[in-house]
Amino acid sequence: MRQSSLVVVANRLPIDDSQALDGACEWRRSPGGLVSALHPLLRHTPATWVGGWVRGTGPAPALPDVDGVRMHSVALTGDDLRDHYEGFANATLWPIYHDAVEQPEHHRRWWDGYLRVNQRFAEATAEVAERGAVVWVQDYHLQLVPGLLRDLRPDLRIGFFLHVPFPPPELFMQLPRRAELLRGILGADLVGFQRAQAAHNFAQLVTKVLGLPATDRRIAVDDRVVRIGAFPVSIDTAEMSALAGRPEVADRARRLRHDLGSPDQVILSVDRMDYTKGIEQRLKAYSELLAGGHVKVRDTALVQVAVPSRERVGQYQILRERVEREVGRINGEFGRVGEPAIHYLTQPFDRAELAALYRVADVMAVTPLRDGMNLVAKEYVAARVDNAGALLLSEFAGAAAELSQAYLVNPHDLEGLKQGLLAALRADPADVRTRMQAMRVHLREHDIRAWARSYLSTLDQSGSLLTHLTSG
Ligand code: ADP
Ligand code: G6P
Repeated sequence: MRQSSLVVVANRLPIDDSQALDGACEWRRSPGGLVSALHPLLRHTPATWVGGWVRGTGPAPALPDVDGVRMHSVALTGDDLRDHYEGFANATLWPIYHDAVEQPEHHRRWWDGYLRVNQRFAEATAEVAERGAVVWVQDYHLQLVPGLLRDLRPDLRIGFFLHVPFPPPELFMQLPRRAELLRGILGADLVGFQRAQAAHNFAQLVTKVLGLPATDRRIAVDDRVVRIGAFPVSIDTAEMSALAGRPEVADRARRLRHDLGSPDQVILSVDRMDYTKGIEQRLKAYSELLAGGHVKVRDTALVQVAVPSRERVGQYQILRERVEREVGRINGEFGRVGEPAIHYLTQPFDRAELAALYRVADVMAVTPLRDGMNLVAKEYVAARVDNAGALLLSEFAGAAAELSQAYLVNPHDLEGLKQGLLAALRADPADVRTRMQAMRVHLREHDIRAWARSYLSTLDQSGSLLTHLTSG
């Protein structure tokens, strides 16, 4: 078994099953923040990526390297998928970690699946990590891996990063297996969150549930110190800016505006189809603005990209049906022949098409009810090489802590959301420009490499990995 000095462990592999099997692998920039964040970082780094592989039963296949990164698959069965991914991860933890905007479900069998899959990931990681390697475990699907892995391989330096919010104690306390989850995470040497509030929530819970002394920076566990802190994730700002600045992308943006009927203004939203993203609330606000005559279909085009996600989880199926019914209703009521009120797209797009969409959007509406970070908001800012474009941003997205010059709104407040949308549409171009410039300055400095540098220099004090990862 080939071993690496850096191992990233995530529920997903960043490649497609179909690509992998015909041997011609490329990174798959699937819709979703985790792969988007790690892709620019790991490309061309001698690391191993351990990820899940769902293909019936039997062993996971050996996969070719992708751009120098080894792909190590962990075999998952249909039952694993149901109990771990669709069940405990996305129907118990995901709603609890996002303010319970949908009701979390609890089933004992899901917990067994979560434990079983985490155990399998820990064993696979223990096999591919060199002696003394740095292992970086990602996200809420794998919170038991740090503890399980430490038992198997105490020589490793283990980091854990949570891409989603970490909830306040009163919500987390609902979890029947709360103590096991906290102990699992505490197997890491460094636990990273998107925001300081999340680290604070975690420290409080560790004291409350496990009785351990904790501050918002350090927790004493047996004879070890576990560090915790906020490391807001980011994007490859330079890459997105360069892409958006290409003449063919600018041309494509111009063509898109023409195809939209050359409206005065374009509003864009790009989301995974998820109830945390506030899609229904946004549609309601827009429909009321149309009904009140504040916005006219002839002058304003709304483009809603909503790529289907977690389609076997009941709440996601219901959401998609509701969103599609509402889009149909709004188009039926307010659209005209050749002029829909909402241009609704559920397809995945390549990076150049996304960049062109960002460039055509006079207003980008990013209004989740709760979001760990929201990379789409950062991508929009990076794409506005012309310093134009108004970002309408939810206060409940992690990105709001950094992009304070955005037009901030509370998406739970329908009137506030309507006013925010109108304010962004009617903003003075000079004000829009000043805000965009400030956000672009912030993102130039706080990009994905700065994130990795800050996290890994705290985790790996010898610093040897940093040179690899953050150069280039
Ligand atoms: P989440 O992680 O909850 O999905 P983020 O906004 O943090 O939300 O990340 C979403 C990522 O998925 C971004 O990098 C975005 O560009 C990408 N994405 C979203 N929609 C699409 C789409 N239709 N096609 C391709 N990529 C998409
Ligand atoms: C969020 C999560 C990621 C996840 C992504 C896409 O960004 O934090 O861990 O990969 O959504 O969701 P999916 O269920 O398709 O992996």
